Amino acid sequence: MSYLLEPLSTNNITLKNRLVMPPMATRKSKKDGRISKNILDYYDEKSRGGYISLIIIEHSFITKRGKASEGQLSVADDNLVEDLKKLSNIIHGNGSKTVMQINHAGSAASKSVTGYEPVGPSAVANPRISNVPKELTEKEIRDIIEEFKSAAHRVKEAGFDGVEIHSAHGYLLNQFFSPLTNKRTDEYGGDVLGRIKIHLEIIKAVRDAVGEDFPILLRLGASDYMKGGTTIEDSKIAAIEFEKARVDILDISGGFCGYTPPDVNKQGYFAPLTQGIKKVVSIPVILTGGITEVDSAEKLLSESKADLIGVGRAIYKDSKWAEKAIKSLK
Ligand SMILES: Cc1cc2nc3c(=O)[nH]c(=O)nc-3n(C[C@H](O)[C@H](O)[C@H](O)COP(=O)(O)O)c2cc1C
Repeated sequence: MSYLLEPLSTNNITLKNRLVMPPMATRKSKKDGRISKNILDYYDEKSRGGYISLIIIEHSFITKRGKASEGQLSVADDNLVEDLKKLSNIIHGNGSKTVMQINHAGSAASKSVTGYEPVGPSAVANPRISNVPKELTEKEIRDIIEEFKSAAHRVKEAGFDGVEIHSAHGYLLNQFFSPLTNKRTDEYGGDVLGRIKIHLEIIKAVRDAVGEDFPILLRLGASDYMKGGTTIEDSKIAAIEFEKARVDILDISGGFCGYTPPDVNKQGYFAPLTQGIKKVVSIPVILTGGITEVDSAEKLLSESKADLIGVGRAIYKDSKWAEKAIKSLK
């Protein structure tokens, strides 16, 4: 019996197996963030044969002010939807499901890319890049919530099977979640519930835009692994609230540490985080990080460390990884 080959169904989406390709920025978009032939070819190659049940498209900026880098994909304008449809069509044609990850970089953005001063929850340095942003006003926070909402609506219009809200790796929503960067004294700061108020408002706005039966995923940087940063205890509280707010799948990664924790290099290195979160929620949880062996994926699933397994760099390097993995189990 194989755990990886087991299908999984949740809110109007059925995944044929437990293998997920996590979002990985290709930086192959056109200058304005529009989809390029290079991107279409890349995702065609990765999804060929439909061996990966779910492909999460790389983080895409919801507004130019939140663009993280040159070459990043955009979901910031209605006129991009027709092009994005080509991407969902290719992946569906190959037999996989696909969702888009939507993001605002916050203080991780730079003026040289966006043309604007970077913004964040508070005017304190981003520990990853030591960049001090301008503190967002409540009005600006409301605008960003609307931008997430519009972006999610475009993702649905473009034919994707769901949308993923990015709150990991030190970007804007991670900056709100982390006490290292959120020093606000209004209702968007303070304890964990204050620091995830913006998340809950975005989830509600996105739900209003996409309807009841469209899957919403949230990628949570569940620990900063830094003194004074977020811990698994904060993330358990947040995960319970996200489930109540009707997030359908939680995708777990690191916070300000990025997608690798310090000093750990084993297969599924975020398993202590997913295991802790799985204990407090009943929605599916994705574990990604360091997994290159199909046996490790099987073992992590068999031990209930997660419900779905993300394999990133191994698939990035070898487009046949998924085919070989799935065939080895049949
Ligand atoms: C080149 C590259 C780009 C990435 N871009 C994103 C991204 O856009 N959004 C995101 O949430 N994670 C991103 N990640 C993190 C991956 O989704 C994944 O969590 C990480 O690679 C660890 O998994 P792995 O060991 O299987 O590669 C990126 C990783 C790499 C290597």
